Order: sequence, then structure tokens, then C-alpha cells
Amino acid sequence: MGKKHVFNAGPCLLPQEAIDNTIEALKDFKGTGVSLISISHRTKGWDEVMDECRALWKELLGIPEGYEVVFLGGGASLEFLYVAMNYLEHKAGYLDTGVWAKKALKEAKGLGDAFAVASSADKNYSYIPKGYEIPRDLDYFHITTNNTIYGTEIREDIDCPVPLIADMSSDILTRRVDVSKYTLIYGGAQKNAGPAGVAFAIIKKDGLGKVSRYLPSMLDYRNHIDKLSMYNTPPVFSIFVMNETLKWLKGIGGIDAIHDIDVKKAEALYAEIDRNTLFTGTAAREDRSIMNVCFVMAPGREDLQDEFLKFSVERDIVGIKGHRSVGGFRASLYNACTLEDVNALIAVMQEFEKLHA
Ligand SMILES: Cc1ncc(COP(=O)(O)O)c(C=O)c1O
Repeated sequence: MGKKHVFNAGPCLLPQEAIDNTIEALKDFKGTGVSLISISHRTKGWDEVMDECRALWKELLGIPEGYEVVFLGGGASLEFLYVAMNYLEHKAGYLDTGVWAKKALKEAKGLGDAFAVASSADKNYSYIPKGYEIPRDLDYFHITTNNTIYGTEIREDIDCPVPLIADMSSDILTRRVDVSKYTLIYGGAQKNAGPAGVAFAIIKKDGLGKVSRYLPSMLDYRNHIDKLSMYNTPPVFSIFVMNETLKWLKGIGGIDAIHDIDVKKAEALYAEIDRNTLFTGTAAREDRSIMNVCFVMAPGREDLQDEFLKFSVERDIVGIKGHRSVGGFRASLYNACTLEDVNALIAVMQEFEKLHA
């Protein structure tokens, strides 16, 4: 079997080094003679993994004093509810940039007064809304920095007159972030931070405790901070792989190094989409994501869609079918995906063009 080039949107490709180290730990966790998935989370060596993982998050992202990182079950989708539970007292504003943003807003609407400040629904979320005004009486303003399904991204830390909350599920650890601009950054790990089964939250501690509602213990961020993410049994396996993924990222030079690589990969693929007569990009150029590159067949060539998909699969390209809500193609270029993988996809697009142009 040829080497597969994996472009899955998440769960997705993870660094081989992280996979290899996990295989070893599955056989024997730190010389204990017990498998990673059979240890107790109260085992001594386990504390070290949790501590190292928290420390790596802080180091890699330059997380300032006054913030804590927690690891949770339930994915980003449960954090949509955490957000509303922990921060919504009077009113919350959301930037409606797609399905995930809408799902986050839905949870807030269930608990209080929450609304979309601006939306790009009019053009099927192919751009990031601009020129909107954030009301100053909001408890918080919520953004989704990378819209995994549509391939749009807010690549800067916006200025916000109220506490800013961001779902960074699909672009965390790909660029420098000024964490001090946010009250909360959260997401599922299963793109750049590790495997499915664990979510992360980077929480400004003094932003909590401002709501009057009863908070169920598991939905109160403070409990997870106080218990160092072991309020209940942590997802041991997923956190282990996350730690290995962060160690790999640090080893290759951290955020600045990976950002350069990520930009190069995205630029190469966008350049091919713009050049190739058979394909066209779907996201507004100025808002193009460096993580999820979305494209369709060029006008008049739509009939080739299924054929291209088959053609690419036969050439070891995995996972470029677009999300079912938008169709077309999506290549997710997360951190473990290499320029070699991207060049392989580009070569397939060029080969296909030669056959059909
Ligand atoms: C931006 C974004 N937010 C939220 C989610 C939902 O994440 P989860 O499946 O961890 O609940 C996803 C999933 O792909 C996503 O891409």
C-alpha cells in the first residue's frame, strides 16, 4: 500500500512521533509494566503527564499569569454549554460564521438573551463579517476563529470592548495568540492538539464567578481548575497523546516554526486552486483559512466532481470530501500534515487537469 496523504478534518493526522510513543506506552506506561489504558489516574507517573501537558500549553502559547488550562470530556460541543453556563448573566453576542458558531449560540439562547451580532449566512458563510459593532453591554462576545466547514479564518486577535470568548477548535496551536485579549479560549483537541476524546479550555480565572445561576458541578469551570482537570476521571489516553503531540510541536520549534510551515502549505494549495482551470476556491480570499482549504469544481466542470474524488482516492489522497453541508472538497492542513502531503495533492490535481482540460 502506498503512503497515504491524510487530509481529514478531525480527527486527523497526528505526528508519527506521538503515535509511536503512544504505542510504547500502551504496551508499558513509563516502565510500570502496566499499559497506559490500565493505569490508575492516581498512579504517580500520571501526575507528571498532566503537569507536563499543562506546562506545554502554557509555554507554547505564552499563556500569561492569571489563566489556567483545563482538559475536559464532552468535546467543543459541551463547551458551547459551559460558555453560556459560566458567563451568561444578562446578554451575550455571537458572531455567526457557520454551523459551529450557530450551535454555540443555540446553547446560549437556551439559557438567556443571546443573539448574532453579525452573520455571513447570506453567502453560505464564505466570508467573515466585517464592520459590525459589538454592543458594550454584553457579558461576552463569542467568535469561532476558524470555520472548519467553510475554510474561513479570523487570523488576528480582535479588539473587543467586552470579554472575548473564542472557539479555537481548528486553529489553536497554529499561530501566535495574544491570550490576554480573551476571557476564554476553548475547543476540541482532535485537530492540532491531539486525538478525539478531550477538549481544552484556557480560562482567565478572574472572569469566572460572575453568574448567579446554579452551576452543576461538572459544568463549573472552577471545579476543573481547582482539581487540576481531575474532578472526575480524566480521559487518560487522549491526554497522553495530546502531551506527546505538544512535545513534538515544541521539538520542531513551537508555534512560530509551525506557523511558517502551515502558511507555506496553504499558500501552495491555494496557488494551485487559483491556477488550475478545473477548480475554484469557495472562501473569500481575504478570509481564507490556513487550516481548511475548501474548493469545488470550476463552473461548467461540476460533472467531474465524483470522478476527481475517486481519482484522488486511487492516488492515496485521504479525506478531501467536503463537509456534507457544503459539498465539494476540503483539504485540512493541520500541523502534522507536511508540505510533501500537500505537494502530493497538488500533483494529483495537475494530473487530473491534464486529462480533462
Ligand atoms: C470550529 C469547531 N467547533 C466545534 C466543533 C465541535 O467539536 P466536538 O466534536 O469536539 O464537539 C468542531 C468540530 O469539528 C469545530 O470544527
